[in-house]
Amino acid sequence: MNIITPTADGSNTLYNETIGEHYHSKHGALQESKHVFIDAGLKFASTDQTEISILEIGFGTGLNFILSFDYCDANNINLNYTSIEAFPLTTEVIEQTGYSAYVPEVIWADFISNYPEALKAPQKLTSLCTLEIPYTTLAEYRSDQKFDLIYYDAFSVQHQPEMWSDEIIAHACSFLKPGGTFVTYAITGKLKRAIKACGFTIEKLPGAPGKREMLRAIKG
Ligand SMILES: C[S@@+](CC[C@H](N)C(=O)[O-])C[C@H]1O[C@@H](n2cnc3c(N)ncnc32)[C@H](O)[C@@H]1O
Repeated sequence: MNIITPTADGSNTLYNETIGEHYHSKHGALQESKHVFIDAGLKFASTDQTEISILEIGFGTGLNFILSFDYCDANNINLNYTSIEAFPLTTEVIEQTGYSAYVPEVIWADFISNYPEALKAPQKLTSLCTLEIPYTTLAEYRSDQKFDLIYYDAFSVQHQPEMWSDEIIAHACSFLKPGGTFVTYAITGKLKRAIKACGFTIEKLPGAPGKREMLRAIKG
């Protein structure tokens, strides 16, 4: 069961009763998504690029996706977005988040009308945007595709430690191109060691409100 819950910046998140955790920071869902994934991830990795492929771990409500879609659309960047999700939300729950307020109407409409089919096969939302949401766990995900950018947005290590093991981090990183970027809201010594062991250079950046630091890493 997921319960809609307001966060400190006025945007909503969901509380997942089974996992015992929120989908986003209680200090602000929207500001966390913008800070970690759009500003530190997408803006950084798409500088001087006309196209970008993103692999997200944990599609959830689609907040990171709609903000990425809006940014790429406004900047004429071709977006190829793949987001692994083991427990997809219903369209009704996603609509209850109120996230339609954060992007132009047409972006929201393109997203919500294609969401159910994107769980089954890649969908072309516009001439510039393709969305695919493989309905599987990260551990079972297989692909020959390599991505420019990974948004690692799993539930926290306290609530889902298996999503932060060295093996699963290496598995996720195997889908990144050399020179590709990995961003996540979390930063621990264990995570830094796991990422370095995969041949990455790591950067500690200021975290979103409520977190001192976040991690950005570049694949060697
Ligand atoms: C922190 S939430 C992601 C929030 C999301 N990016 C958003 O913007 O709403 C973590 C997500 O990972 C999904 N998840 C949990 N276990 C998973 C697994 N083994 N493989 C892939 N996704 C998983 C959850 O269902 C949830 O949607």
